[in-house]
Amino acid sequence: MTVPGSPDRPLRVAVVGAGPAGFFVAQHLTQRTDVTVSVDLFERLPMPFGLVRYGVAPDHEEIKRVSRSFEKTAAKPNVRLFANVEFGTHVTLDDLRRHYHEVCFTTGAQTDRRLGIPGEDLAGSHPATEFVAWYNAHPDYRHLTFDFSAERAAVIGVGNVAVDVARILVRSPDDLASTDIADYALDALRESRVREVVMLGRRGALQAAFTNAELKELGELAGVDVVVRADEIELDPASRAELERADDRALERKVEILREFAARTPAGQPRRLTLRFLVSPVELRAGSDGRVAAMRIVRNVLHPDDRGTLQAHPTGAVEDLSVGLVFRSVGYRGVSLPGLPFDERRGTVPNAAGRVLDPVTGTHLAGVYVSGWLKRGPSGVIGTNKPDAAETVKAMLDDAAGSACPSPEAPDPAAVERLIHARRPSFVSYGDWRKIDEIETGRGRTAGRPRVKLTSAEEAEAALRGAGSGS
Ligand SMILES: Cc1cc2nc3c(=O)[nH]c(=O)nc-3n(C[C@H](O)[C@H](O)[C@H](O)COP(=O)(O)OP(=O)(O)OC[C@H]3O[C@@H](n4cnc5c(N)ncnc54)[C@H](O)[C@@H]3O)c2cc1C
Ligand SMILES: NC(=O)c1ccc[n+]([C@@H]2O[C@H](COP(=O)([O-])OP(=O)(O)OC[C@H]3O[C@@H](n4cnc5c(N)ncnc54)[C@H](OP(=O)(O)O)[C@@H]3O)[C@@H](O)[C@H]2O)c1
Repeated sequence: MTVPGSPDRPLRVAVVGAGPAGFFVAQHLTQRTDVTVSVDLFERLPMPFGLVRYGVAPDHEEIKRVSRSFEKTAAKPNVRLFANVEFGTHVTLDDLRRHYHEVCFTTGAQTDRRLGIPGEDLAGSHPATEFVAWYNAHPDYRHLTFDFSAERAAVIGVGNVAVDVARILVRSPDDLASTDIADYALDALRESRVREVVMLGRRGALQAAFTNAELKELGELAGVDVVVRADEIELDPASRAELERADDRALERKVEILREFAARTPAGQPRRLTLRFLVSPVELRAGSDGRVAAMRIVRNVLHPDDRGTLQAHPTGAVEDLSVGLVFRSVGYRGVSLPGLPFDERRGTVPNAAGRVLDPVTGTHLAGVYVSGWLKRGPSGVIGTNKPDAAETVKAMLDDAAGSACPSPEAPDPAAVERLIHARRPSFVSYGDWRKIDEIETGRGRTAGRPRVKLTSAEEAEAALRGAGSGS
C-alpha cells in the first residue's frame, strides 16, 4: 500500500483545539503542494480561535486580526471545523485513531498556576485566568461575579497578562465601551470603586516579564497616574552586570521606561497604577466579613541559582498592604487529556519536537503529536506558535512519508461526520461560525464596536436557528 498523502489516499489529520497552535498546524499542513492532506479541527467551545478570542485584551483589537488568516485556513475545501465538540467528552483518542492517520493536540493551558500561600482562596482573591475569561465573554466564565467595591486592588505578577488585568481595572470604562468586552463586564466595571491597582513583581525591574510596548502603554492611559518607587527599580550589582553582558536594547529600554515612570510626580488623576518590585506576597488576610482585606508582603533580594539566573529570596522585612481585591497572575497551566501522557510538574505533554512520548518507554506514541502551549508550556505570543507548529508538522509529515503512522480503520471523512452527528448533534461547523461571526459583527456595527459577542452555546444555537443553520 502507498504511504498516505496522495490525492487518492490523503493523509487524514485530526487537530484537537482550534486556537492559534491548532490553526498554525492546519495552515502548515495544507499549504504543502507535494502532499495531499485533509484536516479536521475539533474545538470544545462553540466559537474558534482560543485565546485570540478569550485571552487577548478587548482594547487590543488589532492583535485579533490574526484570526483573518485562520479564517482563510478554515475556508479551504480540505479543512473542516467541528466546534462545540470536546475531546474526552464527545470523542476519545480511540475514536480519532479509528478515523485518522495522525492526531495533533493543541489544547493550550486551560488553568492557572497556584501561589501556595495562606489565604490564597479567600473570597475576593481570584486567578487572573478567570477574570480575563470573564471580561472576554468566555461561555464557562460569564456567570462569575467580581466585587469591585474596594478602593485598592492588587495584581500579583508582572507578566503581560498582569499588565492586561491592571489596565482593564484602571482604564476608563468609556474607553472600553467601544471594544468587544462583554456587556456584563463593562456594566460591572462602570460601577467599580477601585481607585488604585498595585502590581507586585517578586524580582527586579530587569527581570520583569512584561514587554516594552505593553509597559509603555500603562504610562499613557488617560486619567491614570503611574507610580514607581525609585529605590525598587535600582539595579543591584548582579542585575547591572547582567544588563551589561546582555547588550540588549530592549532590556535597556525597559529599565529606562520604568525610570521615566519613577521620575513622574502624580498629577492627582482619578486612578492610580503602582508598580512594585522585589516584593512577594506571603499571606492574604481576611477582614471581619471573611473577604480578603490585606496582604502581607516580604521584601526580596536577588541571588543566582545553579544556572546563574537571578531568583528572589525573602529578606524577612515585611509590610502589610490593605487590599480588597486580588488577582493572581503568575502564569497559566496545562491540564491532562484522557489517554495522553502528562508531565504534572511542567503541565505539558512529554514530547520530542512535537512527537508525543510514552513516559515509561520514552518511545513515540505512533500517530500522536502536540503543539502550542500544551507542548512547550504557557509562554510566548501568538506568533511564537507558528514556528512551533512548523516543527510539529515536519515530524508529522516525515512520519507519514516514512510509513511511521498507523493506518486508520475508517478514513472516510463522511464516517467522522456521522460519528459527530450521533455524539454531538449541536456541533458548530465552519459555515455555522461564519453566520455567528456575521451576527456578532453586525451587532457591533450598530453599536460602533468591532463585535458584540454571543456568550454561550445556547445563544449561538438560537442565533443559528434564526439565521438558518447548515454548513
Ligand atoms: C490573557 C492572555 C492575553 C494574551 N494576549 C496576547 C496578545 O495580545 N498578543 C499575543 O501575541 N499573544 C497574546 N497571548 C498569548 C497567546 O494567546 C498564546 O500564545 C496562544 O493563544 C497559545 O495558543 P494555543 O493554541 O497553544 O492555546 P489556546 O489559545 O489556549 O487554544 C487552545 C484551544 O483548545 C481548546 N480546547 C481545550 N481543551 C479542549 C478539549 N478537551 N477538546 C477540544 N478543544 C479543547 C480551547 O477551547 C482553545 O480554543 C495572550 C495570552 C493570554 C493568556
Ligand atoms: N500583549 C501581549 O503581547 C501579551 C499579552 C498577554 C500575554 N502575553 C504572553 O502570554 C504569555 C503568558 O503571560 P503571563 O503573564 O501569564 O506569564 P509570564 O510572562 O510567564 O509572567 C508570569 C509572572 O508571574 C510571576 N510569578 C510566577 N510565580 C510567582 C510567584 N510564586 N510569586 C510571585 N510572582 C510569580 C513571574 O515572575 P518571575 O519572572 O519571577 O517568575 C512573572 O512576573 C507570555 O509569553 C506573554 O508575553 C502576551
